Amino acid sequence: MLANKTVILGITGSLAAYKAADIASKLTQAGARVEVIMTESATRFIAPLTLRNITGRPVVTDMFELASEFSIEHVALAEAADVVAIAPATASLIARLAAGISDDMLTVTVLATKAPVILAPAMNVNMFENSITQDNLAKLKARGFTIIDPAYGRLASGKIGLGRLADVDKIIGTIKQVLGRGGDLAGKRMVVTAGGTQEPIDPVRHIGNRSSGKMGYAIAEAARDRGATVTLVTAPTSLPEPVGMEVVHIETAAQMKEAVAEATSQADALIMAAAVADYQPKSAAKAKIKKETPSLTLELIRTPDILTEVKGDFLKVGFAAESEDIVANARQKLEKKQLDIIVANDITDADSGFGVDTNKVTLIDRDGKVENLPLLTKREVADRILDRVVELLAKKARR
Ligand code: CTP
Repeated sequence: MLANKTVILGITGSLAAYKAADIASKLTQAGARVEVIMTESATRFIAPLTLRNITGRPVVTDMFELASEFSIEHVALAEAADVVAIAPATASLIARLAAGISDDMLTVTVLATKAPVILAPAMNVNMFENSITQDNLAKLKARGFTIIDPAYGRLASGKIGLGRLADVDKIIGTIKQVLGRGGDLAGKRMVVTAGGTQEPIDPVRHIGNRSSGKMGYAIAEAARDRGATVTLVTAPTSLPEPVGMEVVHIETAAQMKEAVAEATSQADALIMAAAVADYQPKSAAKAKIKKETPSLTLELIRTPDILTEVKGDFLKVGFAAESEDIVANARQKLEKKQLDIIVANDITDADSGFGVDTNKVTLIDRDGKVENLPLLTKREVADRILDRVVELLAKKARR
């Protein structure tokens, strides 16, 4: 998604400027061409040479230097940009942008570009909360700028408050989301489920499964990057919260069913990557169960089958974990649950399925098309599934 994209990374003079090195590094590793523009004060916090080595590109620190050293037009970067991200953005930069001032290479570029602009403010809590800064941010937001709210935490001044630069992963995620706006899922609403549900036995224990949530999160992020509006309904996982989508946290199958019903009321597609427990304890004990008896019997009852029971005119994609007769068994499930696509997991392969970063699947659709995919990363599998979703949505639109 970032490959071959030109990202202008603006850096201003804040203590958080050093974090821009991490942002530049992650963007470059993802294949983006990163053009760094630093304000004069930013160069006092981090050396341009650091950014130059990370990005492998010249770093712009001054308009006149640029014109002479690289002999390009001062608006060339503005025109080449797919996105402009300024991280960290100081109160002073925000004020100058809001006032339409262009007095250095960074403000000139923002004013001259047609690309989307993202600002990640970082400053002292009082400066951030000051109504002048808030008014300036509101003005920029109204003009279409994307603002990544700063985080709460310890600030350079030693104070605790709002003003820390947002997490680097959040900034990268927002850049991807903004770049994906024109993607092939633009305007589509997708609901994705992920993780393994937890069915309570008592207040401290539950029945769970080994699902890591990685496949569902990869699908939700891939859909976001292709322009979809995404709702991720997730059971507990140890994965970081993805940005640029609505995330609904649930624990049990029954809660997931409710959240899915609500989220799909306007959806174009539902992708059920979650490992939903098939059984739950008949009733959860109110108090912690004591080990008083030599044995304990739990009575289990079936959970609702979410895919079968959810109603609505949207594409339904299910997963099937299979160890034998993969295609035949998955086809049966597709018929039984009235799905449009089923993704059959080969769980006999150690590199495939639960916990790992790779997956080997077969995609089967209602028209009988069977596609055996090789071992791929979960992100690649996600994009292959979404390719089929895009195809089927287009087909449905023609009917
Ligand atoms: N699913 C669901 N609600 C459930 C159980 C599963 O919506 N209560 C969804 C899963 O998210 C997945 C698909 O249905 O997309 C898997 O179907 P299931 O019949 O549970 O598959 P297996 O677990 O492979 O079934 P079985 O154990 O019967 O082989």
